[in-house]
Amino acid sequence: MKKNDLRNFCVAPMMGYTTPHARKLYRILSKNAFLFSEMIPSKTMLHSKTKDLIIDNNNNNPVALQVGGSDLKDLKMCASIAKSYNYDELNLNVGCPSKSVQKGNFGACLMLDKVLVRNCIESMQQISKIEISMKCRIGIGNNLNYEFFSDFINEVSKTGIRYIYIHARNAIMKGLSPKNNRTVPPLDYDFVSKIKIEHPSINFILNGGIENIDQAYSLFNKYDGVMIGRLIQNNPFSLMQVDKLFYNKSYSNLSIEKIILEYFNYIRKKLGTDSTFRLLSPLLGILFALPNSKKFKTEIQEIIKKNEINVLEKLFLNFFNDSINNKKLVSNLV
Ligand SMILES: Cc1cc2nc3c(=O)[nH]c(=O)nc-3n(C[C@H](O)[C@H](O)[C@H](O)COP(=O)(O)O)c2cc1C
Repeated sequence: MKKNDLRNFCVAPMMGYTTPHARKLYRILSKNAFLFSEMIPSKTMLHSKTKDLIIDNNNNNPVALQVGGSDLKDLKMCASIAKSYNYDELNLNVGCPSKSVQKGNFGACLMLDKVLVRNCIESMQQISKIEISMKCRIGIGNNLNYEFFSDFINEVSKTGIRYIYIHARNAIMKGLSPKNNRTVPPLDYDFVSKIKIEHPSINFILNGGIENIDQAYSLFNKYDGVMIGRLIQNNPFSLMQVDKLFYNKSYSNLSIEKIILEYFNYIRKKLGTDSTFRLLSPLLGILFALPNSKKFKTEIQEIIKKNEINVLEKLFLNFFNDSINNKKLVSNLV
């Protein structure tokens, strides 16, 4: 273990997935992983009447709130909100390529206006006692251009920023969906290695294309930290290895049964505040990925409709515990 930082292992922000409920499950699975909210547009953070449902933190620290925006006053107010909800960090999204985000003049298109990004960060930094960070790509468009990336980071570094999360591929702003923007532009981790040499005092957290925890661990030995998205989305149980590997901490008695029971206790407290499907969804991905899960899926959907939480809990426990085959399958996935 060469580092001692909260951000050795980060779970990437994912819209529709890293909800407060998912973060509760992630926190049960790992006491130390650094978590992120979904990206929340600054206007939503400031004006939405239902913002509590998405911003709620439940003291699942350490955790960052991610904001999308470029209005300096709004961003400053968002930093106050992040602090008041007890987030450790407010992260500026400079990586999302979606059309609607471009229309709002935030996300990846901000990489084309490095001075505005610097101003955004400085505006958020006016609120004290909350870390301000940024998540960006390595460039814009079809061509890889290290000079462009280096100029951009140079400008941002003038803010004194300490943490930059880099999805190590370009964003292509036209003709490619956000989903394809996570696979089609090639990864280039060397950009992250090179920029670290230019800015040794900034922590650059590597993100993009990490497929398993072993790969994450070997990259962690070369970079300041790693950030993982889709692996956790598809299989949150892989977080069970994180405390030991990335933080050198072990906690006894973490069994799948205890995890399910603790998460269902949480669900019970939240019933009525959100839909049962949204409450359960962080657990569903891994089950639906297993072979022959169709019958189980139909069964679950029927019970969700009836809101029978005790029946659901039993079903999950049986699925994980009673069937040796399923247990084996899950441990293979983990
Ligand atoms: C469903 C989904 C939603 C995402 N939403 C966000 C988001 O809100 N903010 C953000 O910065 N990145 C978002 N991303 C990108 C991830 O944070 C991450 O950069 C990307 O998936 C690459 O990491 P991975 O290869 O480990 O998945 C999203 C990715 C996925 C799969």
